[in-house]
Amino acid sequence: MPRPRATKLLVIGNWKMNPLTVDEAKRIIQSTRKASAKLTRAEVVVCPPFPFISMALGKSERMSVGAQDVFTEPQGSYTGEVSAEMLKNMGLKYVIVGHSERRKKGETDQNVADKTKAVLRAGLTAVVCVGEEVRDAQGAYLDTLRAQIKASLEGVQRKHTKQLVLAYEPVWAIGAKEAMTPQLVQEMGIFVRKILSDMYGQSEVMSVPILYGGSVNFRNAKDIIVQGQVQGLLVGRESVNPPGFVELLKAVDQK
Ligand code: PGA
Repeated sequence: MPRPRATKLLVIGNWKMNPLTVDEAKRIIQSTRKASAKLTRAEVVVCPPFPFISMALGKSERMSVGAQDVFTEPQGSYTGEVSAEMLKNMGLKYVIVGHSERRKKGETDQNVADKTKAVLRAGLTAVVCVGEEVRDAQGAYLDTLRAQIKASLEGVQRKHTKQLVLAYEPVWAIGAKEAMTPQLVQEMGIFVRKILSDMYGQSEVMSVPILYGGSVNFRNAKDIIVQGQVQGLLVGRESVNPPGFVELLKAVDQK
């Protein structure tokens, strides 16, 4: 299968429910913005919790802003929800959908597909997260992953693939001590791209960046990108640790 076009590398920082204070949030944003200005190949997307999002907005050539979740409807009586249209109107570009921590709280593949479509309809880029919970020697996890990808993208049209990013995050590697090995990342990246190709056609999915996520830090980021041959990273803990994240961005950009 041909390799994807050499595109920019995407580093998405998923802050999750961090940090605790406004000052800390400002500090992380400032340091990320500063580091992003020096990037030549990589681009950063910061995804703070909703209350901190507006602080991250503003002109930065290589840093954009994303949300960690979204609701399916554009507006109305949905207490506590935030729509893709609102995010778009605020100046966001990306929305993470189907993170395993949301799936754990009951989000189904169908919910993920509905949210993904809402994000695409609003003209934003959807970062759809998938990944197996466990690996078994017989390889059943591959079927599980295939089914999860198909169901999470159910009804997503071919014309929207340009607005898709697929984040492969093996659940067992999230918040763990070690990331998946770059060699396995490469294997899984090929597997995921093949599934997308079967769904949408090979040439259509060449433009879909496949990211790896799960215990990425400044030490392992470069090998995961270079040997793992993915088009970017979804970073949790290290994205709210300014010194580590700055080093990570440098390492990825130099690859
Ligand atoms: P982690 O989280 O980098 O802290 O393992 C990754 C993620 O959940 O996206």
